[in-house]
Amino acid sequence: MKRRTFIALGAGAAVGALGLKAGQALGAAAPEPLAKMPTGETPAFVPMPDTAMSPGRRMLPIPDRMGGLPLLQTLAQRRSTRRFSALGVTDNVLANLLWATWGVNRADGKRTAPTAMNKQPVDLHVALANGIWLYHARENQLELQNQQDVRGRLGKGQVVLIYTADAGDYGAMAVGSLYQNAGLYCASVGLGNVVRASNAKEAGKYIKITPGYKIWVTQDIGWPA
Ligand SMILES: Cc1cc2nc3c(=O)[nH]c(=O)nc-3n(C[C@H](O)[C@H](O)[C@H](O)COP(=O)(O)O)c2cc1C
Repeated sequence: MKRRTFIALGAGAAVGALGLKAGQALGAAAPEPLAKMPTGETPAFVPMPDTAMSPGRRMLPIPDRMGGLPLLQTLAQRRSTRRFSALGVTDNVLANLLWATWGVNRADGKRTAPTAMNKQPVDLHVALANGIWLYHARENQLELQNQQDVRGRLGKGQVVLIYTADAGDYGAMAVGSLYQNAGLYCASVGLGNVVRASNAKEAGKYIKITPGYKIWVTQDIGWPA
C-alpha cells in the first residue's frame, strides 16, 4: 500500500487493511481515526505501511492531539509524585505520553522537543510489566529490548521512562526537554511522575546503550496513590 493511500484511508482503516492491530498484544482499544484531527493539521506521524513489522515490535494506538488541561492550568499542577497507585496505564495513555515526550509532530520528522541542530540524540526506553521497550516515534511502535519486569528496580511507577542520550551537554539538555514534556503531559491528565537521577546506573544493566550515549535519568509515571 502506498503512503498516500494510507493517509487517505486514515490510519485506523489502513492498520486494519495491513492486518495489523494498533496496540497489538498490548491490549489497546482501536485508534482514533485521523479524520477527527483539526482541519489543516499535519498528522504528527503516519505509521509506515511499507515497513514490515519485525518480531518483537508492537504498534501503539494513534496518540490524541486533543484533551488534557490547558497549558497554564497544567503548569499550575506540575510537581513530583513519589507514591503511585497499583492502577495500570492504558495503551492509549502510554501512546499519548510517549508522543508528548518525544513524538514526531511535523511532516519533516521534527519532534515535540527541540534538540541542538536537530540531531535528536536521544533513545527513549519504557519499562512496562512485560519488559523494556524502545520507542520508535516515526513508526509509532515499541521494540522489545528485554523481557524482564524491572520497574521495581528503577522506581515505583507503573511505567518507567529511561532517557539515554549523547553523553555531552547537548544530550543532557535534550533529556531535560523530554522529561519536562512528559511531566507536563502527566500534569495535564492527572498522572503522577518523578524524575530520578539516582537509578540511572541500575537502568544501564538492562538496556543496550548507543555508543557515545549514557543514561541520564529515569522517570516514574503512574496514577498517584
Ligand atoms: C535531573 C533531576 C534529577 C532528579 N533526581 C531525583 C532522584 O534521584 N530522586 C528523587 O526522589 N527525586 C529526584 N528528582 C526530583 C526533584 O527532587 C524534584 O524535582 C524537586 O524536589 C522539586 O520538586 P517538584 O518537582 O515537585 O517541584 C530529580 C529531578 C531532576 C530534574
